Amino acid sequence: MRLTITRLARLDPACEDASGAFPSRRPRSALRESRRPRSAVAAGTAALGLLVSPALLAPVSGQGLEEFFGTSGEIVRGTAPETRLYWRSHLERSRERILHAANLAARREVATVLGAGAGSELPLAELAGRFDRLVLVDLDGRSMLRSLRQIPRHLRSRVDLKIVDVTSFASALIESITRAVESSSSAAESFQRLGRILDGLQAGEPPDLPPSDLVVSSLLLSEIPRYPFSYAAQAVEDRFGIAIQTWERSEEFYRRLVEVAVDDHVQLLVDLVRPQGVIYFSDTVARGLVQHFDDLAVRRAVEARAAPHFIQLGLAGSASDVPPAMNRLCRAEHSPMTEAAAFERLLSLYRDAEDRFFEPLLPVSALRDRSTQRGLVLRDSPTSWWWLAYPCRIRSGSGAFLVSNWILGLRD
Ligand SMILES: C[S@@+](CC[C@H](N)C(=O)[O-])C[C@H]1O[C@@H](n2cnc3c(N)ncnc32)[C@H](O)[C@@H]1O
Repeated sequence: MRLTITRLARLDPACEDASGAFPSRRPRSALRESRRPRSAVAAGTAALGLLVSPALLAPVSGQGLEEFFGTSGEIVRGTAPETRLYWRSHLERSRERILHAANLAARREVATVLGAGAGSELPLAELAGRFDRLVLVDLDGRSMLRSLRQIPRHLRSRVDLKIVDVTSFASALIESITRAVESSSSAAESFQRLGRILDGLQAGEPPDLPPSDLVVSSLLLSEIPRYPFSYAAQAVEDRFGIAIQTWERSEEFYRRLVEVAVDDHVQLLVDLVRPQGVIYFSDTVARGLVQHFDDLAVRRAVEARAAPHFIQLGLAGSASDVPPAMNRLCRAEHSPMTEAAAFERLLSLYRDAEDRFFEPLLPVSALRDRSTQRGLVLRDSPTSWWWLAYPCRIRSGSGAFLVSNWILGLRD
């Protein structure tokens, strides 16, 4: 196994947990830490008995970027096991689709997984078995050690862990945000400086990654803009006790981050994939339910349409039992698989009823346009499914994600 840590990654933003909540605090060490004996990754790597060059383990000024991403990874890893039971079908479908994409690649030399994290929805052992080299890329090194544990020891020599920014702009942007906030004496001044950053925001140099026969980008793109935004929000709040939402350009800032991230990511996919290679791109495109309880008429209609399914699952004896049956979900009266089937049905019915019950997370049409403009074509029909990230919150807030995936390649 080889480990690469990019020094560019000097400061640290946060991965949101699946519920949409960022880690509550930006690690204080992010801005000031200059001395740590060795990184958590280094410690974990040693624990796995892996050989890593001592130069890579040297303390790095501002190594907090890794820590910031690590904090986020910890939140996701900390999800209760009973909640994870509901994730099963999402994880299985995701692994199956990635292996299907892998089968379409003409060659088996290099597979690169962007935003690999802890690899929960990735078939890493199989990919390491099928490809000569498996490159895992993320800024959260601690999570990637979990990815590595999925891979049998005898295949680990094929794996490269790269603790690297997958974008051409996020690390540099976070550095600029830090400087802007730290050098301001008021929130107003920091917003002015952030405004100048926003006006000049553009892509930079892409990461140095190998040409690949399979490129996997799974649940990554929608996260990319959240990190620098969350970092800016925490920096302003830590220093001035003010919410970034009080800045009149905060929404514009986020929208622009999304735009730049989409462009940047599509370009990276195009640059990385070999001519006969395959890209597996999947992401959470919408989150729900939102607002559904405000609308009793829709709720009643959904309950009525859910009745045959609830009866078939043994959750209700007749249509009139559906509302109480819904109230009994998540009380450990039924198996998570049965409940997952019921939740999936409810979500699809709400989705059919009205789009407004779901918050879009990605500008899918812009993504499609960019991909086409840059010469990407579909290599298989897209598919979608529900990820019941926090099913027991679905009825009171938003707990599920619509995951869509596309298998792509370069136009001949
Ligand atoms: C939702 S998680 C992906 C989950 C992962 N695919 C799995 O199977 O567990 C998003 C990942 O993207 C990573 N990430 C977000 N922005 C990044 C960036 N600019 N550079 C590198 N990694 C980034 C986060 O650290 C996180 O591990």
